[in-house]
Amino acid sequence: MGRYLVNFDTRELEAAECAFLVLGSGIAGLYTAHTASSFWNDVVVLTKRGIDDTATERAQGGIAAALGPSDSPALHYEDTVVAGAGLCDLEAVRILVNEGLSRVEELIRLGARFDRADGRLDFTREGAHTRRRILHAAGDATGAEIQRVLSSTVRANPRISVLENHFVVDLLIENGVCWGVLTYDNTSKKLKVFRSRVVVLATGGAGQVYRDTTNPKVVTGDGIAVAYRAGAEVMDMEFVQFHPTVLALKGAPRFLISEAARGEGGILLNAEGERFMLRYHPLGELAPRDIVVRSILKEIAESDRDFVHLSLAHLDPVRVRERFPTISQRLKGYGLDLTCDPIPVAPAAHYFMGGVKTGVFGETNIKGLYACGEVACLGVHGANRLASNSLLDGLVFGGQIVKHARFHAPQSVPGRAVSEGLEDPGGLDADALVGELQALMQEYVGAVRFGTGLEAALRRFEEWERVRRKEAASPELMEYRNMLDVAELITEAALMRRESRGGHYRADFPESRERWKRHIILKRQV
Ligand code: SIN
Repeated sequence: MGRYLVNFDTRELEAAECAFLVLGSGIAGLYTAHTASSFWNDVVVLTKRGIDDTATERAQGGIAAALGPSDSPALHYEDTVVAGAGLCDLEAVRILVNEGLSRVEELIRLGARFDRADGRLDFTREGAHTRRRILHAAGDATGAEIQRVLSSTVRANPRISVLENHFVVDLLIENGVCWGVLTYDNTSKKLKVFRSRVVVLATGGAGQVYRDTTNPKVVTGDGIAVAYRAGAEVMDMEFVQFHPTVLALKGAPRFLISEAARGEGGILLNAEGERFMLRYHPLGELAPRDIVVRSILKEIAESDRDFVHLSLAHLDPVRVRERFPTISQRLKGYGLDLTCDPIPVAPAAHYFMGGVKTGVFGETNIKGLYACGEVACLGVHGANRLASNSLLDGLVFGGQIVKHARFHAPQSVPGRAVSEGLEDPGGLDADALVGELQALMQEYVGAVRFGTGLEAALRRFEEWERVRRKEAASPELMEYRNMLDVAELITEAALMRRESRGGHYRADFPESRERWKRHIILKRQV
């Protein structure tokens, strides 16, 4: 794996400087920038498309917080740890469930309008939660509401500048200290350097490495890839969460049908019209996600079609429309009525538990480099994230970074970086390369894995090594290279872990093993 994606010499490039640099504009990035602005007056947020082109914006179900009358952080802690299948960092979970309460209250003070019933916050339930503790907004548009509030908060803040269409190409490191980033400005079509004492990765996950995913096109693993190439440790890369219920309609893009639809009573039916989930788990449709996913895949394998049905037809149609307006509207466009039609669904890649290894203050093994949100892995989700804990994670651990960086940001280093010798990329077709990669990951590194399939995938990665000798001369090729790097890391870790646990299922090692109750950490030799 090469160190850089393009040829450059930082001395020849336009350079800008700030005190606190955030990469990414979802909940984790924007909340970090907002918090940092209390201590630094030149905070910059770089985002590769528009400020609202994020996975946060698409989040439906909600944000978990133990604010309900019969709930407590201790119960939320327990549910999170059980879902994490033995790999949660307990200190991180403790911080998540406790700090989370005041962070969510702060969001409300900033203007987030969560749904209420009789004037009180209305909580829904999702898989593996023992209480109704999921806050939602506009029914099923929770992420859009949070994105709206944080975008407007950050835009109105004179201490924060947001630069859109800035793609992060690589991190700039000298003597173990991150002194800035190399970016590609997709408006001026030029490479630029940003120097900063603090660099925060908040670039999200990597769902696009799979053909079937709930993630938007922008989610291409950029943060994990740039950090790994720069020498950061990455952890738990094998743990990918697949969402059980994603619209599976020929010709239509994959579209999430929120777990809250099952939380409100939706049921899953197989090709015979039989409700099957209770055969697999006493919690039925609200069993942990990995169990629902594998149960659906088994039912699909035993049928002659590639989906099962989600049905809400037995529920009050007025309530269904009110709770799920976005989903109802979207399905209407395909001629489906959520209140009475069976909805074809199948699993798709949804969330990365793994990522850049951090401590509970978002600190990485590289000084000045921090990570939070889905790009980071501090073990808070263990091997399997509890539903609706991800928005909370973005809020809580973004704030943690600021606490640390205030006292530990390194002095600025006058660094220089040069990369040369990468070949002309002429003839590389990014779309075709991405398609091949996604198909490979879907086939061999999906929700059910075999050692032989993982080895076959690794052989293909070796064949693709030649692509790494070429310059990634366009944003499309840069995204492809990042996806390739991340896909290879997932596959390597998945082959190493000879057991099944949480989101990682090896059909050739279907049981969990005590000796594998540990993390896999990968690091490039630099
Ligand atoms: C959903 O609405 O089902 C997604 C919730 C999550 O992944 O946390």
